[in-house]
Amino acid sequence: MINFKKEVAKMISECTKISEEEIAEYIEIPPDDKMGDYAFPCFKLAKTLKKAPVIIASEIKENIKINEEIIEKMETIGGYLNFYINKTTLIKNVLEEIESKNSKYGKSNIGKEKNIVIDYSAPNIAKPFHIGHLRSTVIGGALYNIYKYLGYNVIGINHLGDYGTQFGKMIQGYKLWGKEYDLNENPIEKLTEIYVRINNLCKEDENVLNECRNNFKKLEEGDKYCTELWEKFKNLSLKEFQKVYDLLGSSFDSWNGEAFYTDKMPEVIEILKQSRKLEESEGAKIVNLEKAGINTPIIIEKTNGSSTYATRDLAAIMYRARTYNFDKALYVTSYEQNLHFKQVFETAKLLGIDEKYTKSLEHVAFGMVLLKTGKMSTREGNVIKLEELLNEAISRAKAIIEEKNPNLENKEEIAKKIGIGAVIFNDLSNSRIKDEIFDWDTILNFQGETGPYIQYMYVRTKSILENIEKLPTSKEINVEKLQDNDAIKIIKLVYKFENILENVISKNEPSILSRYLINIAQAYSSYYNLNKILVEDIEKKNARIYLTYMVGNILKIGANLLGIEMPEKM
Ligand code: ARG
Repeated sequence: MINFKKEVAKMISECTKISEEEIAEYIEIPPDDKMGDYAFPCFKLAKTLKKAPVIIASEIKENIKINEEIIEKMETIGGYLNFYINKTTLIKNVLEEIESKNSKYGKSNIGKEKNIVIDYSAPNIAKPFHIGHLRSTVIGGALYNIYKYLGYNVIGINHLGDYGTQFGKMIQGYKLWGKEYDLNENPIEKLTEIYVRINNLCKEDENVLNECRNNFKKLEEGDKYCTELWEKFKNLSLKEFQKVYDLLGSSFDSWNGEAFYTDKMPEVIEILKQSRKLEESEGAKIVNLEKAGINTPIIIEKTNGSSTYATRDLAAIMYRARTYNFDKALYVTSYEQNLHFKQVFETAKLLGIDEKYTKSLEHVAFGMVLLKTGKMSTREGNVIKLEELLNEAISRAKAIIEEKNPNLENKEEIAKKIGIGAVIFNDLSNSRIKDEIFDWDTILNFQGETGPYIQYMYVRTKSILENIEKLPTSKEINVEKLQDNDAIKIIKLVYKFENILENVISKNEPSILSRYLINIAQAYSSYYNLNKILVEDIEKKNARIYLTYMVGNILKIGANLLGIEMPEKM
């Protein structure tokens, strides 16, 4: 496709003799296209050219050679040059691109030969898969799909929380009360109950707490009884987690959890020791990070010699650098772990691995999910089960279908797509760092800025296209018929799609895509309300059909990239 921005940069560069790259950096996209599709703020050159912006603007205006096939109009307003792209060229370009790429529209190869590691989901064994892990799963999954679509080699890792002192507690609890529970049914609930009980006991009795710590130590040393129990907990949990992954359609390239790094930690500790970074503090081994402006030291080894979450993450960085030679490594967790990742990323610089790796570690933090009833925590045991939440989403969607369209075929399957889609879209619809309030009525509202709305608009495009014999070819379309403001608005959005995907990965922010999908759905909705699509006039009809096809196509590609499945009817 024509890169209009680049073309504009080229024209300005030819006339100012300033490099195209520099010019391109300054070019802006005005908030309203009445002020042009691209604007060049001349004050950016004032220093270099030693002239006032207004003078620069008028000199460029006089000397610039405008290629009219690309730019149909240029204006100066104050120190700004405003460029209006040639609509006919734009429309032709977009039509041809859609026609040649169809369901692969927007796909590219910009990530060729680049390796991206995404660490996401990572629920904890013997604990419920909670709504924060859902966010991680959904955000990480969307990023995974989008990087892949842009040609990156992506490695999705589920860094399971299958290690740590809590297992010492679980083992102790099981030793004491295991006989009281049948773990074949609802194992996580029961393990959670055991966990709550043992935690309470630990609070009362220091000796029990020490027993628990010892159990974990034993587990690390490979003790048979402890290891067997640990495996039992792990298998039971994974089976439960899989139910959630099946509902969400998630999959991973690696399931290496924390325990995987047990034999990889000594190297980390050795390196830190050798370089004299490891210090003793109250019996524990730490690295002081004050010089880097981090006041809390990172704990590498606990008082009783057991390893920590942080040490396992350090070992994981070394392992991933060697195994995947990553160009970027993303960690998708809530902002509650900001300090943890700051410490880990800073300490990683001391491990003697190439700077290439330590520079490309990134914490993709997200906000909390607040239920209307407030925050949740495992220790107190008041959590909602995610599987139940997802199933509730499905049954609520089903109820809506029963009410609105009781004769629909495959109601179950469609309800699943709508319910799950609603939950996923809700997780992605605002910038990730914001806290999110989970509210059924908002997320399932078919008229709101929701997943079901995107699906509904998609289904509308489908049902229009069902009534035509065949899609016109791009050559058959009279571009004049798509020149009105409402159509152009859609075409411009279609044109932007690839750029939107690039923005998503440059900020690791899937909400850029969800907002975009809302915008294009709304733009089409207002077009559709003003213009009948299947009109008598064949030229108008063909043009409008194509517009409908483009929008449907993009809604589907975009939603799929977010991890949302589209129903064909609803
Ligand atoms: N299991 C952790 C939790 O539930 C998240 C792990 C994130 N990944 C990592 N490499 N630390 O909080």
